[in-house]
Amino acid sequence: MKIGVLGSGVVAKTLAAGFLKHGHEAMLGTREPAKLADWVAENASARVGSFAEAAELGDLVVLAVKGSAAAKALRAAGAQNLAGKPVVDATNPIAELPPENGVLRFFTNLDESLMEGLQREFPDARFVKAFNSVGSPRMVNPEYREGKPTMFICGNDDGAKKTVSGILDQFGWETADMGKAEAARAIEPLCMLWCIPGFLRNEWTHAFKLLRG
Ligand SMILES: NC(=O)c1ccc[n+]([C@@H]2O[C@H](COP(=O)([O-])OP(=O)(O)OC[C@H]3O[C@@H](n4cnc5c(N)ncnc54)[C@H](OP(=O)(O)O)[C@@H]3O)[C@@H](O)[C@H]2O)c1
Repeated sequence: MKIGVLGSGVVAKTLAAGFLKHGHEAMLGTREPAKLADWVAENASARVGSFAEAAELGDLVVLAVKGSAAAKALRAAGAQNLAGKPVVDATNPIAELPPENGVLRFFTNLDESLMEGLQREFPDARFVKAFNSVGSPRMVNPEYREGKPTMFICGNDDGAKKTVSGILDQFGWETADMGKAEAARAIEPLCMLWCIPGFLRNEWTHAFKLLRG
């Protein structure tokens, strides 16, 4: 597939490298393509462009920008370049406030997630929440003695979720589909839970697994 990754941070770079490793085509989108020159030099088949160029290229788009800038980045990408496409939303609505005893603060609340707002503003894009509650070093083919970790996903479009499940399979995850966009109200705060051992004890290598009885 052709993948447009919106973002230039560690998550965008990690996921783009994962897509390239698995035989996809990938372009990173950023406001400042020049700052990724070194990354492109290291990843020969990678490409870099504007948010709009990356979204236009993608059969699937990945949103991997700062949560507070998610809507801005999508506006710059252009609704017409997102229409009809699965948009993997890896973002978290982290507020500009310090964690409290290791607990991050969000600018959303439990009745309204970041992804629901994005889905409302871009009704023709097919958002799927994924990759938001694991650290970037373990996003692509993580190895755990206990087996495959679980990626919790949600979104309104079953076809888009099927496409994302296929990617998660390639990336070494089992998928747990939690239903429609409202489930992002529960999946986004998994990031808070995931970060607590990091802030309290500098433990950053875990992942979640759902045990099914
Ligand atoms: N770090 C992790 O391990 C991890 C794990 C899971 C999920 N996440 C989530 O993944 C997302 C990306 O995280 P990250 O650590 O890679 O990067 P980040 O530092 O959170 O975000 C960097 C990106 O945000 C964009 N951005 C910032 N302000 C902007 C604005 N005003 N308008 C448009 N774009 C703007 C930047 O665009 P430019 O390229 O134009 O500068 C850049 O691409 C976040 O939502 C984070 O919560 C992170």
